[in-house]
Amino acid sequence: MGMGDKAMRFSSGSMMRAMSMIAGLAACTAAARAQDDPNRAQFLKSCGTCHAIEAGDAPRQGPNLLGVFGRKAGALESFQYSDALKSADWVWDEAHLDKWIENAQAMRPGVVMPYHQADPAKRAKVIEFLKTLKAPS
Ligand code: HEC
Repeated sequence: MGMGDKAMRFSSGSMMRAMSMIAGLAACTAAARAQDDPNRAQFLKSCGTCHAIEAGDAPRQGPNLLGVFGRKAGALESFQYSDALKSADWVWDEAHLDKWIENAQAMRPGVVMPYHQADPAKRAKVIEFLKTLKAPS
């Protein structure tokens, strides 16, 4: 009887330790990922609510941005762009993205992205991250 109790306590104790170790590892990995990639963190914070970036993810308020760098503006069939963006004739490169993120309406009257970023350093981080999002070919 006494022996059995002891064994129970021991095994539930080591289970708890194992579980908190796993939780600790997961927390470390997430923190390390955000720390390793401040550009990604900036994107998720500034743009992630409105823009998905995984292949096949449905549009949110804005279009999926996977593969946007080098893509023609307003070109996804799956997204209902404003007429102003749909009829834009540029390809997304650094200069266009920088102007867009700073103030889309100033760049192209009639577009409907309700987000402005005045800090050039934050814009640069986001643009660096967008460059890494290559569409599967
Ligand atoms: C509050 C929602 C919202 C936020 C936040 C937002 N966007 Fe947008 N974005 C939109 C909408 C809506 C459109 C479509 C605009 C239109 O059709 O005129 C858009 C369009 C775009 C496009 C054009 C894509 C294409 O296929 O031509 C780019 C590039 C873009 N956003 C980048 C960003 C980046 C980078 C950020 C973060 C710095 C950001 N957006 C933050 C809503 C948002």
